[in-house]
Amino acid sequence: MSAAERRIRLGYVGAGRQAQQVHLPNFASIEGCDLAGLAEVRPSLGREVADRFRIPELYPDHRALAADRRIDAIAVSAPFELQGEIARDCLERGKHVFMEKPMAISLAQADRILDASRRGGGRLMIAYMKRYDAGNILVRDVVRQWRRSGEAGALRYVRAHGFRGDFQVGVDAIVSRSAEAPPLAPNTNFPEWLTRDRTAYVDYLQQYTHNINLVRYFLDAAGDAQIEHVDLDDDGSGIVILRVAGVRCVLETGRLAYHRWDEHVQVYFDGGWILTWAPPLLVRNTTAEVEIYRGGAGVLDSTRFPGVQHSVSRPIPEPRGSWAYRREAEHFIERLLSGEPFDSEGADTRTDVRLFEEIYRRRLGV
Ligand SMILES: NC(=O)c1ccc[n+]([C@@H]2O[C@H](COP(=O)([O-])OP(=O)(O)OC[C@H]3O[C@@H](n4cnc5c(N)ncnc54)[C@H](O)[C@@H]3O)[C@@H](O)[C@H]2O)c1
Repeated sequence: MSAAERRIRLGYVGAGRQAQQVHLPNFASIEGCDLAGLAEVRPSLGREVADRFRIPELYPDHRALAADRRIDAIAVSAPFELQGEIARDCLERGKHVFMEKPMAISLAQADRILDASRRGGGRLMIAYMKRYDAGNILVRDVVRQWRRSGEAGALRYVRAHGFRGDFQVGVDAIVSRSAEAPPLAPNTNFPEWLTRDRTAYVDYLQQYTHNINLVRYFLDAAGDAQIEHVDLDDDGSGIVILRVAGVRCVLETGRLAYHRWDEHVQVYFDGGWILTWAPPLLVRNTTAEVEIYRGGAGVLDSTRFPGVQHSVSRPIPEPRGSWAYRREAEHFIERLLSGEPFDSEGADTRTDVRLFEEIYRRRLGV
């Protein structure tokens, strides 16, 4: 069979909101992907969603799906505390896995998942869709170029801001809900030091893991990231100061009754900045918006950037009209077929899990 003819038989675990609004429509219409099975522990919800997306096989839970030898890869979106265990079981069975964030709620659990991947041979991609947003890829490219050339001086500071808002902004997506009780999450995977504020920890982790992961992406930073200062309220509002690849970064978190999605990252050099604004997540065919400011000579020190005209540009990221969530799903299938590494590997995400444990230990003083 030629490379162009090879296809991935994909199974999906969890027919909830993220599956229905985002991943099932994407995987059902991607070149090279056959959406072959759905596992859902709530049977009537599973039946309804399998019928809607014309998925031929319905399984009572993820283990039944993972046992099916005809399935090559499995995508998972399930409750925060459960999905790491689901991914681990699938990896043990040798399936390649695409899973929603957070990958794990403790470093020990992350290591068990990565062990399962090594033992079973399945590859693991974490669905950090912001890394697949054409606007963020443009930011990463300009940051790399400025660092390489030195044309804008030194990279001084990164500010990551996430105050949430309305991520759906009225997007009309049909969602089937279920009267059947959702499964209870086990509580065996929390860090052993976390004996209180578990709900707050998981909420903080699941939301802001996106932001720290994106800062590491912009700075091409793998494990070189440390927490320096934490000032957080019980509801997760506050600031965290980090060093990422030697650069001082601030994560500002909070909540705002905002009609769109209040999230941006600004990367500061001596001679300018690069800023990216996230779109509300579920708005399709819209990329992050990018602004590039170039400071010229004469503001503070006329000798610094001689001949550079002060300017602000707002380049339109390409491909225009693309959606980060669709591009991440395409990436998973393409990279499985090509054998190249993912741009959001499970092993890389271990760093995010480690940083969130450190942040919360400092917040709780344990
Ligand atoms: N990347 C993003 O921006 C983003 C946005 C929203 C949600 N998410 C992630 O998606 C995940 C799911 O969120 P959701 O809102 O769809 O949750 P949900 O509760 O609506 O859906 C999860 C589904 O999984 C099913 N399930 C649980 N255990 C199962 C098992 N063992 N086998 C089969 N099915 C099982 C549940 O019955 C439920 O229907 C969360 O972890 C969340 O972090 C990510």
